[in-house]
Amino acid sequence: MSAHGDPVPMIAHRSGPLRGEAHVPGDKSISHRSLILGAMAVGETRVTGLLEGQDVLDTAKAMQAFGAEIYQEDGTWVIHGVGVGGFGEPDQVIDCGNSGTGVRLIMGAMATTPIAATFTGDASLNKRPMARVTDPLALFGARAYGRSGGRLPMTILGARDPIPVRYTVPVPSAQVKSAVLLAGLNVPGDTVVIEAEATRDHSERMLAGFGAKLTTEDTDEGRVITLTGQPELTPQTIIVPRDPSSAAFPVCAALITEGSDVVVPNIGLNPTRAGLFYTLQDMGADLTFENLREEGGEPVADLRARFSPDLKGIEVPAERAASMIDEYPVLSVVAAFAQGKTHMPGVKELRVKESDRIDAMATGLRACGVTVEDGPDWWTVHGRGFGEVAGGAKVQSHLDHRIAMSFLVLGFATNAPVTIDDGGPIATSFPVFQSLMTGLGARIEAAV
Ligand code: S3P
Repeated sequence: MSAHGDPVPMIAHRSGPLRGEAHVPGDKSISHRSLILGAMAVGETRVTGLLEGQDVLDTAKAMQAFGAEIYQEDGTWVIHGVGVGGFGEPDQVIDCGNSGTGVRLIMGAMATTPIAATFTGDASLNKRPMARVTDPLALFGARAYGRSGGRLPMTILGARDPIPVRYTVPVPSAQVKSAVLLAGLNVPGDTVVIEAEATRDHSERMLAGFGAKLTTEDTDEGRVITLTGQPELTPQTIIVPRDPSSAAFPVCAALITEGSDVVVPNIGLNPTRAGLFYTLQDMGADLTFENLREEGGEPVADLRARFSPDLKGIEVPAERAASMIDEYPVLSVVAAFAQGKTHMPGVKELRVKESDRIDAMATGLRACGVTVEDGPDWWTVHGRGFGEVAGGAKVQSHLDHRIAMSFLVLGFATNAPVTIDDGGPIATSFPVFQSLMTGLGARIEAAV
């Protein structure tokens, strides 16, 4: 079932050619952070290009519940922040819907203010592990009371006299890193976060942009991030770049759909996010970066993807995993149309996303005639080559937007159509997915 309604079955038919420009929505990670940091600044932050997906709208509602004023004015989101330490106690349960990023970052942001807040989510989010965030928040002095296994619903009691923390993140997770940094904002002294593997660095960049004192150093231990607490954050004007994780869908669809030539303009190639595109190039994809330029200190390009019938299976470097963690589902679809095996090691985190993404994709791909092997932290797709993937199955999206979109993309190039049980979750990150893809020439319809 979708987060806020009945299931929405959808069917994707063999399509093509896909042609034209695909203007994908704003970046989900940066959108959440714009709202949260805007709420923690003093004064008016203005945000354009915000992703208006359900995940981000749930974060906006949560920030209102903690006392920020947030409204939309002619396409710009305006946030009147309450300042670091200025959150009030919400008088209702905070429902973060489907969003792990939303709930984990907000827990961090409130954990060093002496207030209580109770968090919940949908059936997917309430299965996901929260101890990875509440463990480090406890070091600041916050307390968490949740369900067994550290699951939501959960109440956090923020620390009254928080102490600074030095914390090595045990799993590669930008959400955990960000929760600790946001908690560190309302703590006197320096909070230090160490990550062995670099994960997306939007929090660090944006905290510095809002005027926090933050340094990053690459050492033998890994990346060491030091934040000096209790800054006054200065409100910002933010233009949210387009989401490379959403761009992945039209790009991958074009590669596997006969005759396609699609341009996805203005996509950030921040090295902590762009791993998929280099992986596709390694597979022999006709994917080019046009008009490569720099915007806001980040490399940006127009991605041009053309039908690539001669893709080769590869070994995806484990050390690239963090920079493409959300893109493995759609990569596995492309891998099904390549010649040879694509082996994807070092991806244990895929098992605790909106769904167990290895299991969800492996099960659906097998039902569509593709051989997939998997282990605790790896999986291998045996590519069948272009024109050789059967399709014809009804697969489950498990309340996971990226699983839903990946299987629809699969259906553009299988011999028989692919049906998903529920496309409702697509609205969490890419509300215009269907219209954007059909505008390029894809065939997606409502199913029964
Ligand atoms: C995100 C971090 C990643 C990613 C998620 C967004 C973020 O999760 O999967 O979609 O905005 O910080 P983890 O930090 O759990 O790897």
